[in-house]
Amino acid sequence: MNNFNFCRPTDFYFGRGVENDAGEICKKHGAKKVLIHFGGGSAIKSGLLDKVEASLDKAGISHLRLGGVKPNPRAELVYEGIELCRKEGVDTVLAVGGGSVIDSSKAICNGVKYDGDFWDFHMGGVIPKDSLTLGCVLTIAAAGSEGSNSCVINKVIDGVVKKKGCNCQCNVPDFAIMDPELTTTLPPYQTACGACDIMCHVMERYFTNTKDVELTDGLCEGVLRTMVAMIPRVMSDPKDYEARANIMWASTMAHNNICGVDREQDWGSHRIEQELSAFYDCAHGAGLAVVMPAWMECVMEHDVMRFAQFANRVFGISVDFEHPQRTAKAGIAALRALWKSAGLPLNFEELGAKREDIPVLVDHLVKDDKTEGHFVIMDGPFITKVLEHAADYRD
Ligand code: NZQ
Ligand code: ZN
Repeated sequence: MNNFNFCRPTDFYFGRGVENDAGEICKKHGAKKVLIHFGGGSAIKSGLLDKVEASLDKAGISHLRLGGVKPNPRAELVYEGIELCRKEGVDTVLAVGGGSVIDSSKAICNGVKYDGDFWDFHMGGVIPKDSLTLGCVLTIAAAGSEGSNSCVINKVIDGVVKKKGCNCQCNVPDFAIMDPELTTTLPPYQTACGACDIMCHVMERYFTNTKDVELTDGLCEGVLRTMVAMIPRVMSDPKDYEARANIMWASTMAHNNICGVDREQDWGSHRIEQELSAFYDCAHGAGLAVVMPAWMECVMEHDVMRFAQFANRVFGISVDFEHPQRTAKAGIAALRALWKSAGLPLNFEELGAKREDIPVLVDHLVKDDKTEGHFVIMDGPFITKVLEHAADYRD
């Protein structure tokens, strides 16, 4: 087990109707003027924004709106949000939405307190030291941004879309309001993409070279088994509150790092996927459904017993000790079958990606960082192999 520091001070409010307490919760966190940041309109359509505003009014907190965050959030709106917060004297940003809205809010909160360009934080080297207060009203269980220290933003540089993350303590939200009922209005595809992202956040941690991490292995397996049980339930009955609730809390547990504090983590599949969602503007979870199993196939031999353990403890597949490769492969097949049943893409064609783009995708990836991943360190040719597996996979 590795040494670690774990500090996640987010104040969580979870359950039916908690969004109606948004005003009181903002007040508790010292808010005087709130920017409500949201996406393309789902929060207006569902009536959530009205509820949040009514709650802020009741608490006597002034507020203003900035909508229009797109999935794979863009830097342009972050700059607009920074200017607006400065002009209006905003002290708290309340993100009403999913990972894209929360990440756009994180970037605004950091940018307001910084004299330079917020993008410096995403190019590495500069770490945010201070930020506005950040709260979230979560509407999709997926990215885990409501409890994570990450923020991922898209910016066009020299005609190329760059999707870059920034990890730091300033990105950990001050509070998160999580009502699973808010996720019942999600289209099935978004529910499935979110579920896939949750599983991948755990798997990026689970496949590790660090030994003797039984406790966190068990936490990872618990989150993954929950997802295996809940995905079919929520896909067949989108209004299943208990399934929605389990998935929503799993999204936080999967990515607030409680499942990975003590170990070397991989993140190669996420880095590869970020190129896909930057290039094709596809949903992050959909890109992962294509990349992650392909990555698993390419690295399995590095520690086949860990893959057999995954198959056994997550999917209940008996370990074939004479041929652990067979167990490992059965685990990957079970994962793909689960995701397929949820309507996720499993290859390039289903994602809307093109095999002939692979050299450009790899070139973008290795231009800034020469290698990706930690479980197995991947150079350009290895990443090409993963993407070719992802492109060519057929049932
Ligand atoms: O924009 P609106 O109209 O709100 O529609 C959204 C959007 O189209 C819709 N939606 C959300 N809640 C809804 C709803 N539709 C109906 N009913 C609801 N209750 O869902 C669509 C997707 O929303 P988005 O916020 O993009 O989804 P997600 O939470 O999956 O976030 C994806 C982004 O997070 C990043 C991804 O790269 C991607 O940019 N990630 C952030 C991480 C982090 N900060 O820790 C970690 C992740 O690995 C990930 O990289
Ligand atoms: Zn993710």
